[in-house]
Amino acid sequence: MSGQDKVNELIKMRETARLGGGLQRIEGQHQKGKLTARERIDILLDEGSFEEFDMFVTHRCTNFGMEQKKVLGDGVVTGHGTIDGRVVYVFSQDFTVFGGSLSETFAQKICKIMDMAMRAGAPVIGINDSGGARIQEGVTSLAGYAEIFERNILASGVIPQISAIFGPCAGGAVYSPALTDFVMMTEENSYMFVTGPKVVKTVTGEDITVENLGGAKIHATKSGVSHFMVPNEENGLLLIRKLLSYLPQNNLEEAPLVSTNDPIDRMDDFLNMIIPDNPNQPYDMQEVLFSILDDSEFLEVHRNYAKNIIVGFGRMNGESVGIVANQPNFLAGVLDCDASRKAARFVRLCDSFNIPILTFVDVPGFLPGSGQEYAGIIVHGAKLMFAYGEATVPKITITLRKSYGGAHDVMSCKQLRGDLNYAWPSAEIAVMGASGAIEVLEGRALNAMEDLQKRENYKAEKEQEYKEKFANPYEAASYGYIDDVIEPRNTRFRIIRGLQTLQTKKLTNPPKKHSNIPL
Ligand code: HXC
Repeated sequence: MSGQDKVNELIKMRETARLGGGLQRIEGQHQKGKLTARERIDILLDEGSFEEFDMFVTHRCTNFGMEQKKVLGDGVVTGHGTIDGRVVYVFSQDFTVFGGSLSETFAQKICKIMDMAMRAGAPVIGINDSGGARIQEGVTSLAGYAEIFERNILASGVIPQISAIFGPCAGGAVYSPALTDFVMMTEENSYMFVTGPKVVKTVTGEDITVENLGGAKIHATKSGVSHFMVPNEENGLLLIRKLLSYLPQNNLEEAPLVSTNDPIDRMDDFLNMIIPDNPNQPYDMQEVLFSILDDSEFLEVHRNYAKNIIVGFGRMNGESVGIVANQPNFLAGVLDCDASRKAARFVRLCDSFNIPILTFVDVPGFLPGSGQEYAGIIVHGAKLMFAYGEATVPKITITLRKSYGGAHDVMSCKQLRGDLNYAWPSAEIAVMGASGAIEVLEGRALNAMEDLQKRENYKAEKEQEYKEKFANPYEAASYGYIDDVIEPRNTRFRIIRGLQTLQTKKLTNPPKKHSNIPL
């Protein structure tokens, strides 16, 4: 063979590898409304930046005539490229090759780029579209999964890991995405479950569809497994690009600064009026966030899950910030099990990646009742408390209205090492609301009154007395638990100046192997 012949052979092999399972299966993929593994990478990465590895890897299985069925690349496309000029590592499972099922060598390809990403300190993005363990391979496939899981675990909190689910993801395979920082699912065509509908029917007798068991909507709204539900793959891939813009490359770096023309001292008079006079009337916390953040841009995470708390990313004077905010518009912004878990995980993510946390408080307390107690609200609430208390990034808390009881402590209070705790004049910081407090304090006196009118009047009078004493920020401010009571329209400026002064913050926790967060 001449030199040119050898080059031609290489070119031909590359072309063959790029076809994966062949034109017919590619067509099948398109007919399902899905893109191929390579088309996905093309959209995800900066044009022309993809550098592929292990194109010539094939499986080593000889069971079930598999030695006759080798496909170059073995069903997963791996390599690195850039997003907005920053390096990322990526693997994209190719459903056209053995249904994207995971073999020993397939797993080795993924592990290789995960190891490279860890050495380079760069994010890993995994695009999942797979029938799970390659059945012909048996235990080597299970071992392959475990190799990936271990790497997911060790990389957690070191480099960002993002999982896109654009097809099936079933059985133990779900645990790799579950170990990563973000899970995204497409509305159609994606599903995740530990056991599929057929096994469910056999074991429990329950009849359930794939969508109702583990479709995107279920995981975005009920289980909270998925952080983002996207209408289609292209939309999802572009969202991953945007999401990464808020994150650093690794835990030793800061997120990139994004210049803005939004003035740091921009005031919004609307904020002075947003809190309704009636304390039981809701308002939309999103409007507060849009008003305060740079260019009104907010990337919400877990938008459809536990809507009583909002979490997501924004920027203040170009600096990436994590937002945690009670939402009075949904269940009055109460803290329940799901909201606590959602916020706790987000706080820990921000702390891992050096992203300051802004907390906007309007919380009537923890949701009472046997339902919540049986579901473990004590432990879930403790998670959020733990996450805030352990976090060493800059923490700025703004109390807008209610901040009652245990929920006050949990929502990044001063004693959980809040750096700056500001309150609006409408803030009410107390052990509990007036009505509940008077029921407890005056219960005996109220019960003794037979005249109902007299009883109501007495109760109203006592509630008023309680409100005057506690339904304000000044009691807390008089102890220094609130650093300042600020004019709402000036909140943006106060936060930005706070973040500037906290740039040099240094805080560490006592040395330990790791903490024992109540899981
Ligand atoms: C080998 C597989 C495969 C698998 C699919 N294929 N899954 N090959 N191992 N796990 C092959 C099919 O034989 C077929 O090959 C091609 O991929 C496309 O599959 P279809 O069934 O034609 O596609 P579709 O109708 O879209 O159905 C997709 C599917 C189905 C729902 C994913 O293929 C399926 O149920 N597969 C098995 C899923 C499963 O039980 N996996 C094991 C889970 S347990 P041809 O040549 O005909 O095109 C597990 C344990 C992990 O994963 C443990 C980790 C700790």
